[in-house]
Amino acid sequence: MSDEELDVELEARLEEQEEFEPPEAFVEQANVSDPAIYEEFEENWPEAWERAANLLDWEEEWDQVLDDSEEPFYEWFVNGKLNASANCLDRHLDDRGDEVAIEWIGELGETRTYTYEELHREVNECAAALRDLGVEEDDVVTMYMPMIPELPVAMLACARIGAPHSVVFAGFSADALATRMNSADSEYLVTCDGYYRRGDPLDHISKANEGLEDVEQDATTVVVDRLGDDLDHDLAEGQVDYDALVADHEGAEVEPVTRDAEDMLFLMYTSGTTGKPKGVKHTTGGYLSYVTWTSHAVLDIKAEDTYWCSADIGWITGHSYIVYGPLALGTTSVMYEGTPDYPDKDRLWQIVDDYDVDQLYTAPTAIRAFMKWGEEYPERHDLSSLRLLGTVGEPINPRAWKWYYKHIGNEECPIVDTWWQTETGGMMVTTLPGIKNMKPGSAGPPLPGISADVVDNSGDPVGAGRAGYLVVNKPWPGMLRTLYKNDERFINEYWDEYSIPERDEWVYFPEDGAKLDEDGYITVLGRVDDVINVSGHRLGTMEIESAIVGVEGVAEAAVVGGEHEMKGEAVYAYVITEDGYEGGADLRDEIVGAVEEAIGPIARPEAVVFTHELPKTRSGKIMRRLLEDIANEDELGDTSTLRNPDVVSEIQQKVQGD
Ligand code: PRX
Repeated sequence: MSDEELDVELEARLEEQEEFEPPEAFVEQANVSDPAIYEEFEENWPEAWERAANLLDWEEEWDQVLDDSEEPFYEWFVNGKLNASANCLDRHLDDRGDEVAIEWIGELGETRTYTYEELHREVNECAAALRDLGVEEDDVVTMYMPMIPELPVAMLACARIGAPHSVVFAGFSADALATRMNSADSEYLVTCDGYYRRGDPLDHISKANEGLEDVEQDATTVVVDRLGDDLDHDLAEGQVDYDALVADHEGAEVEPVTRDAEDMLFLMYTSGTTGKPKGVKHTTGGYLSYVTWTSHAVLDIKAEDTYWCSADIGWITGHSYIVYGPLALGTTSVMYEGTPDYPDKDRLWQIVDDYDVDQLYTAPTAIRAFMKWGEEYPERHDLSSLRLLGTVGEPINPRAWKWYYKHIGNEECPIVDTWWQTETGGMMVTTLPGIKNMKPGSAGPPLPGISADVVDNSGDPVGAGRAGYLVVNKPWPGMLRTLYKNDERFINEYWDEYSIPERDEWVYFPEDGAKLDEDGYITVLGRVDDVINVSGHRLGTMEIESAIVGVEGVAEAAVVGGEHEMKGEAVYAYVITEDGYEGGADLRDEIVGAVEEAIGPIARPEAVVFTHELPKTRSGKIMRRLLEDIANEDELGDTSTLRNPDVVSEIQQKVQGD
């Protein structure tokens, strides 16, 4: 058979094959390869979770693994004491001080390498500096920074002095920054002058300053100078230059503060059903144990590996799997500042090749782009260092999965399709790569110790083959503990739907739809609340709607997610104008601008459809499902319950005409 024929044959096999065994060579060296681990967790639950905690160094051992007396306010590793920064840095110094902790690659090609020793030094200096500025234990420090090394440095410095950080994605708007700082009563901000995108310097400090104007409390701001002469910036009153500050504390050593296992490590804001972002609270002991354990068991990270997660640290994936998990294991974590297609579409593969990356963890939206760009880009490079591939953030379609498997992994790397959320802290549903077969398109079974199921409206399991709602029936160490200063919303958002408090049955509802197969594999179908997933980024439709209705001339707006070939989902906005206003190009631009200003360019509507009415039920509720069907040009669901059925075909025509 010729090479070409072989390729055709393989392609056909890959199309057909629905199950892939873990490659033997991988299994032989896997961190976890004994299938008994599943029973072990089941039979010895919750004590089996000590296995995760034992991957860390504790100053004082816990005296109880799980305290469930105040459900759903669970506590893990009760009375245990530790420090996250000491676990990510100090404990590696003796054996691995000279090994690389962070390998940073700037978009313009410059690099910075931090050994554990060097990272430890800068984190100590930064911690001393923050303390000098007045940061005390339990003060929330906000960070509004792109992918530059000072971000993980500042996070670990905060962890060292017991000050929770709250990282705001740099692509978010000034408004989004202000909302989050106000909500967290945060009096400190670490930000930077700007960064590079596609080779050009991008001003960031103006956005930060604009946000600070709306912050209710006085805030001290530290500014990293990333752009040097490429961007002149003046520091306002109360703003301090990062380099000068750290230089003032050269050689300083800060004793890691002893934190209780349940003390807050960080806050991370995420979108929910209502317009107000939720401040998800993660703790020191449970979270760090959980991300370290999953980095070890799922990503198969070993200290001597070079591991790369291409997410942004501004999202939970970067917190858990660029910073905390990998560094706790003493590995080399790669950080890349820029975009995957700059200067060319082989940038990622060049980095894998140059640094001999062992594991690559990325998002389906990126894989879809690579696929579209074509095989020629990965083919330019030697990718044989890769041992494992991962995906996260959204469902991956089997075609993209198989492309990733073949063209990036050369059929030699297992793929872990990991389902989890900001709230879960770490991975929940995925195959253990050294044990389980992979099924493209299906994330896999719940991890050992995780009890997940798919249920119907009344909470009864639907069994194999039928769609329902994903639920988690038992607590886990990495779970969020509450929403910042809002226990009530925490219960309403996650526990109200399926729990039966009278019977002490507490069920966590992640607001995702899912399907089980006969082997217990879970295929995640997507959000069932008013949250949409654009390129793996979670956006609340209400937040977008409230930005749109703030535009002069807009009377009402409904936002839904429509399918999108590259982004997974895209924002569709249906807008009713006020009397006397015309729904034309100008208003559309204003609407797009308002969304970018309120949230950021990631929330930019793909389409703005002007209509004089929205489809509503007789009780006045907007029929979002119908609007989704229209966006997707799908066959429409039942319209008989509508108060105004005529409007449907009118909107349909507009969308199709666009
Ligand atoms: O809908 C699920 C989807 O992303 C949501 C969580 O978003 P976020 O909190 O921003 O965290 C993203 C990174 C962990 C989930 O509710 N999601 C995440 N991973 C997957 C997924 N959907 C399908 N398959 C996945 N592997």
